[in-house]
Amino acid sequence: MSEAVKVCVTGAAGQIAYSLLYSIAKGDVFGSDQPIILTLLDIAPMEGVLNGVVMELMDCAMPLLKEVIPTCDEKVAFKDIDAAFLVGAMPRREGMERKDLLAANIKIFKSQGAALDTVAKKTVKVVVVGNPANTNALICSKYAPSIPKENFSCLTRLDQNRAQAQIAARLGIPNSAVSNVIIWGNHSSTQFPDVRHAKAIVNGKTVPVPEAVKDDNYLKNEFLTTVQKRGGEVIKARKLSSAMSAAKATADHMRDWWFGTQGDNWVSMGVFSTGAYGIPEGIMYSYPVRIANKQWKIVEGLEINDFAREKMDLTAKELCEERAMAEEICNQ
Ligand code: NAD
Ligand code: LMR
Repeated sequence: MSEAVKVCVTGAAGQIAYSLLYSIAKGDVFGSDQPIILTLLDIAPMEGVLNGVVMELMDCAMPLLKEVIPTCDEKVAFKDIDAAFLVGAMPRREGMERKDLLAANIKIFKSQGAALDTVAKKTVKVVVVGNPANTNALICSKYAPSIPKENFSCLTRLDQNRAQAQIAARLGIPNSAVSNVIIWGNHSSTQFPDVRHAKAIVNGKTVPVPEAVKDDNYLKNEFLTTVQKRGGEVIKARKLSSAMSAAKATADHMRDWWFGTQGDNWVSMGVFSTGAYGIPEGIMYSYPVRIANKQWKIVEGLEINDFAREKMDLTAKELCEERAMAEEICNQ
């Protein structure tokens, strides 16, 4: 068996972590023969709950799980880690937008960025899930200057999975028959779920999704708003934010980063913008990426029409505004 990978999950006593930890420990993310050491970070008032989670992990008797280290100290949690799932943050409640969480959550990511910078491996792969995920990831990376910016990302895979599932349901085909859906921009209601380049397998034939759906009006309106507002709809129904689907998407995101994307397929993740597709530099923007050797690369050359341009710029504008707000909070 290979050497263990050391993996940290923050917010480990929370809802998302409850599903995510099981997935990681059973091998869904790093492989079914990869031993794992888990560090679990939460805040001091949650210590009791965290201990309960540790007991349950032990009781699962999972072959790959070598050690579990619960802690309330960031530097213990991040020491020499290979991968970080930064989930711990306040979730939104009904009636809030995700950016309303900036004031409550941004300082967590400033502090965790600085701690990662000091004690994590420089190769650590970080996915930020806690909202507002894009801007939290940006701040985390800013305060970890010795770790490459490419090692920080934020989760928009849940939006991708939602978009894929909507199209599959519309066409009456399996989820696996839909690929290359794109999420551009912010994990917020301004995101642009784009299926113009997506493919569907219908009756054994691969066709462009717009051709299969045959309803431009649906794709430009109902489909878009359904995906954009899905998080809020789940909160309305559950009185809690999405957790099982968020954990599944987080596991998908890191697994593809670790093992790479397949063939021509791409996935969406929030990454540091250096200006691709005319997007302002220095925001964490969700792009289509292909991944090989644990390095992502933005898919180039996709055609952007006027409709897409407008949507992509709108969500970029929101991210620039969030960045300004976040920097102000960090400087206080
Ligand atoms: P939760 O309230 O159930 O759990 C959050 C946990 O984080 C709690 O145990 C809390 O004590 C802990 N925490 C708070 N501050 C911390 C800190 N400084 N260090 C470590 N842990 C800390 O919430 P949840 O449902 O698990 O959601 C977590 C976050 O993920 C929320 O911000 C939510 O909005 C976000 N989220 C993002 C996506 C996405 O797609 N990006 C999807 C779903 C939820
Ligand atoms: C989601 O998309 O379900 C999460 O980001 C939670 C939320 O606040 O919408």
